[in-house]
Amino acid sequence: MQVKVMQEGISTRYRTRMCGELGKADIGSRVALAGWVQKRRDLGGLIFLDLRDRSGIVQVVFNPDLNKGAYELAQEVRGEYVVKVEGEVTARPEGTVNPSIPTGEVEVRADALEVLNAARTPPFYIIENVDADETLRLKYRYLDLRRPDMQRNLILRHKIMMAIRRYLDAEGFVEIETPMLTRSTPEGARDYVVPSRVNPGCFYALPQSPQLFKQLLMVAGMDRYFQIVRCFRDEDLRADRQPEFTQVDMEMSFVEPEDVMMCAEGLVAEVVREVTGLSVRRPFLRLTYREAMDRYGSDKPDTRFGMEIKDVSGVVADSGFKVFSECIASGGKVKAIVVQGGAKFSRKEIDALADFVKGCGARGLAWVAVEGERFRSPIAKFFDEAGLARLANAAGASEGDLILVVADAPAVVSEALGRLRVHLARKLGLIDGEGDGGGQGRGQLAFVWVTQFPLLEYDEEEGRNVAVHHPFTSPVDEDIDLLETDPLSVRAKSYDLVLNGVELGGGSIRIHRRDIQERMFRALGMRPEEAQDKFGFLLEAFEYGTPPHGGIAFGLDRFVMLLAGRDSIRDVIAFPKTQRAVCLMTGAPAPITDRQRQELHL
Ligand code: AMO
Ligand code: AMP
Repeated sequence: MQVKVMQEGISTRYRTRMCGELGKADIGSRVALAGWVQKRRDLGGLIFLDLRDRSGIVQVVFNPDLNKGAYELAQEVRGEYVVKVEGEVTARPEGTVNPSIPTGEVEVRADALEVLNAARTPPFYIIENVDADETLRLKYRYLDLRRPDMQRNLILRHKIMMAIRRYLDAEGFVEIETPMLTRSTPEGARDYVVPSRVNPGCFYALPQSPQLFKQLLMVAGMDRYFQIVRCFRDEDLRADRQPEFTQVDMEMSFVEPEDVMMCAEGLVAEVVREVTGLSVRRPFLRLTYREAMDRYGSDKPDTRFGMEIKDVSGVVADSGFKVFSECIASGGKVKAIVVQGGAKFSRKEIDALADFVKGCGARGLAWVAVEGERFRSPIAKFFDEAGLARLANAAGASEGDLILVVADAPAVVSEALGRLRVHLARKLGLIDGEGDGGGQGRGQLAFVWVTQFPLLEYDEEEGRNVAVHHPFTSPVDEDIDLLETDPLSVRAKSYDLVLNGVELGGGSIRIHRRDIQERMFRALGMRPEEAQDKFGFLLEAFEYGTPPHGGIAFGLDRFVMLLAGRDSIRDVIAFPKTQRAVCLMTGAPAPITDRQRQELHL
């Protein structure tokens, strides 16, 4: 992954070429190079410097016979010094060619050296895949970003952003900026707020997304909008969540879910093709939310491997095993996954799996090993041979397989088996390209759309129904009248795009009529005055001719992370924050002075 610096652009007083681009074709030419010293070696009267810039590394040789002064100065040089060298590109002597670097066939015989700046010894090596503590890497982020793998990640990110802009421009989208100092846009997290000096006691909220502005741009007749935009959410952080992150945000007028999904697919497939050369199969797999939960136990299913969840309630309901029969009688489910060849698992391994599902909230894990004509299982005594055969059949198990069964409330079963499935796939190496840790293996790209999420869900903490997506998402037409009678069964015109088990993006068709938006606010337990206070401008806009519209937003950081084959979005963000939302380099957040506090009326 390289970004070419044009010859004309780089030719300055300091250099005429970049280090990493020199090769056989340059033999005999005179060059000036500037960069950082990767390594110095003193070898029998010669000094070798490996010189590095963004393009790569080239070997530079100092010979006292060529220029004694330069040779002596080269002795003083240490790692990470910034130097300028001049000399002739020559072929390396026979036997000294280094095939492991692109410039390995040549070296520069230096006859001039200028030390532009000295450097302290860095706290970690400036090398590919350095084994350094992340805290240290974040504190000295400018050194971390000097490492080739981090530079590649940032360049990949740039390439992806360029490809997105090109594609969307060609599809008639217009990039429009929206405010950062604004009012709360609810996306399910807490707001970051900014006090107003000139309006005592008032606060701006940083946008959790540009959701309302992009809808208002549709009211404005802009037809197709996009923005690569920073969003802010105060929520619990994880490897794929940052307090500020970047969305590729889109909105379109006169569309249905199908139109938005096809456009988003086209975008994603084109970006993947441009930056990786891989062509992804279209149309992407589609699952309704219900199917995703039933078959994968997750609304972000990882479809790179099978091991689908099977409902075996029907064949165990009448068994003598009370855990199963009582569970079903009280409205629960009994479901299973099958580990191919898993009958050979040791007792200890199976116990560890049982502990795993207990960690997911399940009460236990029952298992049946299919061994030839026999079944081996701690619950075998509750079944006759035919009953176990029916269970194996319903689960889809054959000889040598292990059936793993959880009985519980439907949501608990899905959660436990959904997570167990992924845990097992990792443990058994069923996921191509995972587990090398070095970020080299991107492996397979399994895209899947999950559609028709429930519109609302009950939030225990809030003690009321909340929007699964956001309050502006349209219900499915035939479910609208359930808003008042059975709100939790209303399905939404929504869709999430999932890649390799990670939620990459989400969107929906929006409500575009005032009456339905008001019913939605009511279903969320919002009083009319409250709705008017928070979203009056939107409700009013709906009275001035709002077109049907919808859109989607992708997490750019997650997309880059997956294409770079990394495990954390911190590796693809130049200056990320820690799990505690701290920037270790600048020390933000930090206290402010009393004077500032007074000015801000805090
Ligand atoms: P949503 O809330 O699903 O939708 O966000 C869209 C995508 O943004 C990414 N994302 C994050 N990435 C990193 N860190 C975070 N804290 C974080 N939060 C979200 C995810 C997610 O899929 N306005 C709607 C979109 C729409 O309806 O058009 C929205 O923001 O990849
Ligand atoms: P018990 O008779 O309670 O010792 O349970 C027998 C087996 O059933 C053990 O392997 C338990 O882990 C398992 N088990 C217990 N509760 C459940 C459950 N809710 N779902 C699946 N298996 C369970």
